[in-house]
Amino acid sequence: MSHYQGLIHRYRQRLPVTDSTPIISLNEGNTPLIELHHLPKQWGFDGRILVKFEGLNPTGSFKDRGMTMAVTKAVEGGAKAIICASTGNTSAAAAAYAARAGIQSFVLIPDGKIALGKLAQAMMHGSTVLQIQGNFDDGMQLVQELAKDLPVALVNSVNPYRLQGQKTIAFEIIEALGRAPDYHVLPVGNAGNISAHWMGYSEATCQQTAACGLCHGQCPYHLEPLTTSRPIMVGYQAAGAAPFMRGAAVKNPETIATAIRIGNPMSWDLAWAAVKESEGWFDECTDADILATQKELARFEGVFCEPSSATSLAGLKQDLKRGKFKAGAVVVATLTGHGLKDPDTAIMQSEQPHQIAAEKGAISRLMEQYIR
Ligand code: F0G
Repeated sequence: MSHYQGLIHRYRQRLPVTDSTPIISLNEGNTPLIELHHLPKQWGFDGRILVKFEGLNPTGSFKDRGMTMAVTKAVEGGAKAIICASTGNTSAAAAAYAARAGIQSFVLIPDGKIALGKLAQAMMHGSTVLQIQGNFDDGMQLVQELAKDLPVALVNSVNPYRLQGQKTIAFEIIEALGRAPDYHVLPVGNAGNISAHWMGYSEATCQQTAACGLCHGQCPYHLEPLTTSRPIMVGYQAAGAAPFMRGAAVKNPETIATAIRIGNPMSWDLAWAAVKESEGWFDECTDADILATQKELARFEGVFCEPSSATSLAGLKQDLKRGKFKAGAVVVATLTGHGLKDPDTAIMQSEQPHQIAAEKGAISRLMEQYIR
């Protein structure tokens, strides 16, 4: 058996590629599905909670799934440059995959509102970084206009190949569990990812007939279904950036979870369709709850995700209290990005290092306070 070579290689029968497509990959995907051992009990839940840790992708977020497809198709189409607007993770992935492909990348990021690790990645991979005096939504408008006028491929999730790559997360979860979960919870910003998850779950159950009601016999892949049921989809937003809860765009989105500091999501209709068809819901969490949950996960489970990613579990915790999840259910939460992306926010909310003499007695006295 050959070693794992990335998600296009793995799922090529379910993706829009041919044998002559030049695949640009960093062996993304195949991330672990980790069962939580402590938090379900602490939260009074008798079901199972598993986290799909997308922080373990090559650039540390789920964006690599979409970017391998978007850059592969851009290169196949002859593009010499790509562009995106980003709250940080898309820019890191775009920069890395452009480097891998040997093409130029341009990234527009909101001035001062991007986590340090993400900025370092875009710079290190040789992207031309444009820090605009505006937010993500302003950047999104600009890149759409720029991509019309200049010979650059737009690789935000309005590019349909992004969602094609990102849908593979559903296939991996079904294969790992041997079935679809009962619920799937995830953070929502620009709303591409919830739409891609639903596309993946739907294609995985599609019977390729009009009767199944999914593709109406139009499915392009003609494959056996991977499973029989789809999960209920639940999307969580930060309270200061929750357009799906307000029912309209939010003008000045604000949250500590900078990755989802977005007021005017591009995949509005697709995300609503995912929630409605699955009989799920949207809800919102405060910044305080997001940070507290990020810390609980790191402290009690050993999993370090970035604040935006913790929004999925902060929402779950809140809705478990409200009795919105069935007893005994299997819940999967997507942890979209790695905690190392945003060291400032992690250090800000943690116990600070002890300043201490390099002396055995002093150190052992301090240690005794911690050893019971
Ligand atoms: N979690 C993280 C860590 C993200 O970086 C993003 C989006 C989301 C969740 C939300 O996913 O936009 O598909 O609803 N980040 C984009 C970026 C906007 O530019 O990196 P979504």
